[in-house]
Amino acid sequence: MSSGTGTFGPYADAGAVDAVRRLSADELRARQLERLRASLRHAYENVPFYRQSFDRAGLRPEDCRSLADLSRFPFTVKDDLRAHYPFGMFAVPQDRIRRIHASSGTTGRPTVVGYTGQDLAVWADVVARSLHAAGGRPGHTVHIAYGYGLFTGGLGAHYGAERLGCTVVPASGGMTARQVRLIQDFRPEIIMVTPSYLLTLLDEFERQGVDPRTTSLRTGLFGAEPWTEEMRREIEERFAIDAVDIYGLSEVMGPGVAQECAETKDGLHIWEDHFYPEVVDPVTGDPLPDGEHGELVFTSLTKEALPVVRYRTRDLTRLLPGTAWPAFRRMEKITGRCDDMIILRGVNLFPAQIEEIVLRTPGVAPHFQLRLTREGRMDHLTVRAEARPDATPEDRTAAVGRIARGVKDGIGVSVAVDIVDPDTLERSVGKLKRIVDARD
Ligand code: DLL
Repeated sequence: MSSGTGTFGPYADAGAVDAVRRLSADELRARQLERLRASLRHAYENVPFYRQSFDRAGLRPEDCRSLADLSRFPFTVKDDLRAHYPFGMFAVPQDRIRRIHASSGTTGRPTVVGYTGQDLAVWADVVARSLHAAGGRPGHTVHIAYGYGLFTGGLGAHYGAERLGCTVVPASGGMTARQVRLIQDFRPEIIMVTPSYLLTLLDEFERQGVDPRTTSLRTGLFGAEPWTEEMRREIEERFAIDAVDIYGLSEVMGPGVAQECAETKDGLHIWEDHFYPEVVDPVTGDPLPDGEHGELVFTSLTKEALPVVRYRTRDLTRLLPGTAWPAFRRMEKITGRCDDMIILRGVNLFPAQIEEIVLRTPGVAPHFQLRLTREGRMDHLTVRAEARPDATPEDRTAAVGRIARGVKDGIGVSVAVDIVDPDTLERSVGKLKRIVDARD
């Protein structure tokens, strides 16, 4: 399961990455089925929740004879983890748990996840594989500006980068001026950070009079929140780097569930020898064929501490055939989460769609916020976007019309647009909250 040289060993030994990459589709499917059956058995035998939910559905782990049979098994949702707070979903005794992470839990109880030593080794392996796919190699220096702590971003990236044989700078989030100095002084080739915090760093580079295009950075792995192709262009242009997407979620592991390859930049290869993906209709739960848009669902294939069976991510995407890693399916860039969808006078709208329009608008910086208000019984949306420092009053007026028209023509709904002064919208230090709901 792990390539077995210990958590801190150089990863590139004996072509561990290439051996996996060269798996044929048949070999991968066989490995998945074997692991899936073992994982279902492990969940059923060790987690009362899974035993009950399988029993209720009249299913035993042995009933999964093919990968397609998985769709007969019941889903798991975030509330199931909350209901068994803190450790009720763990499948191993407490003394085998080496690490705990948890979601921020801004609403209600946090979701707690746990890892055995073996889970941590697999996690480091998949992040190392992600870094490798992004162009990282042993000897590179990796600046990690994902938050360290209960959030999986910092520590998840950290052990993966060490596993690959990189030098890690564990900067964590915040203290933005110092981050810029560290990047200048330590000369990392790679940065791992949320795209919104990278924009905060970008402003700080400019404030310090440093051209971000002149740094040592060559590659950025951006994730933990949605970002668009327009944002990729903006980042690549202003930083002179390759910007690739990294995806993951705590319940399934953390960062490193799927990764975009630098050589193709065509969506994220899912490391499906460890995490088996399905896409289902978000309303009915019916499985959808590859290529169709829906909600992403994962079943863990090798996790010991917290096996998850058909976990509904709420993330919307579709599955595509492999390219750079031929046997491994890709997922398209996440277009949004079921929970982030704004329904405005009957029209569905995602923040990413607004991002595309804002970033195509001259004179406007890539900082924007969506403010929902209610007048009478009508919901209103105001797109608040920042002017670029060099924008003229005419640019700002033109931008208002352009964004409003873009939303009306592209999405089909009228919104108000407010172009605010540079440096007035709240900046991100981690995951950015785009939507401000002022309806009550
Ligand atoms: O955000 C893990 C992570 C850390 C991924 C660092 C990548 C980099 P959670 O805090 O549990 O875990 O949040 C998971 O974040 O369900 C998505 O909605 C969103 N998300 C994560 N990566 C991406 C991405 C981490 N590349 C939730 N694109 C997921 C879009 C993403 N959304």
